[in-house]
Amino acid sequence: MLVSAKDMLNKAKAGHYAVGQFNINNLEWTKAVLLTAQELNSPVILGVSEGAGKYMCGYKTVVGMVNGILEELNITVPVALHLDHGSYEGALKCIEAGFSSVMFDGSHYPIDENIAKTTDLVKICNQKGISLEAEVGSIGGEEDGVVGAGEVADPKECKAIADLGVTMLAAGIGNIHGKYPANWTGLSFDTLDEIQKLTEDMPLVLHGGTGIPEDMIKKAVSLGVAKINVNTECQLSFAAATRKYIEEGKDLTGKGFDPRKLLAPGFEAIKATVKEKMELFGSVGKA
Ligand code: G3H
Ligand code: ZN
Repeated sequence: MLVSAKDMLNKAKAGHYAVGQFNINNLEWTKAVLLTAQELNSPVILGVSEGAGKYMCGYKTVVGMVNGILEELNITVPVALHLDHGSYEGALKCIEAGFSSVMFDGSHYPIDENIAKTTDLVKICNQKGISLEAEVGSIGGEEDGVVGAGEVADPKECKAIADLGVTMLAAGIGNIHGKYPANWTGLSFDTLDEIQKLTEDMPLVLHGGTGIPEDMIKKAVSLGVAKINVNTECQLSFAAATRKYIEEGKDLTGKGFDPRKLLAPGFEAIKATVKEKMELFGSVGKA
């Protein structure tokens, strides 16, 4: 059954590794992430943006699909179902629908409004045993319609939000959603170090996991990052594998047009990407 992300992230923070959040888009995506987590005995967070939630016919449908897969495939590793970059209203809807974790992305509100709305959600989530992610300093790039400018968070604002009692804190440190530009100047590790010193054992979240070099990932984990979000990289590997299958004409041979065959290469590509990330983040065997 679904669990909140609280225990898995506190364990990761203490154990100096990170739990992967992999955004899902459909049943095959979800199955690929969950099977890989089970095979690697790794905790995992399934991320659902508001756009993906709509695409998958609503939050209740997503909850039903995920709970069904957990039971039918006998997935026993810790799995959290998490609203990604949620609005205040979206967070309330997901709580209602049965998500075990939500993010309230208040980074584009004035800090006082971010604090007020986050305080409300802390109360509700605590009552229901749901984990809550807050964000300070918007993450650059665009994630399913949510556009940010890539600010570097103010460590004092991070402390103010962390002190509200959230489960995990996403702080902008120069990370960007999607592909990184060639002139990207890297992560601001000084800021990350300042934030972790002020927020102590608060699990920190690194958004925009796609394209961050391995040495930077490892350094971020050593400075308190306990959750790393990946979306674009799975999309790119799914698309490349599917395109290759079609370009090789395999969709025209025999039953190649069967959707289960057509989606199989992409399914395997997602599994490979998730495996590579779980090994890099250090969560293998940590379930
Ligand atoms: O919230 C989702 C992640 O931040 C995804 O970032 O698409 O750059 O991997 P990414
Ligand atoms: Zn993100």
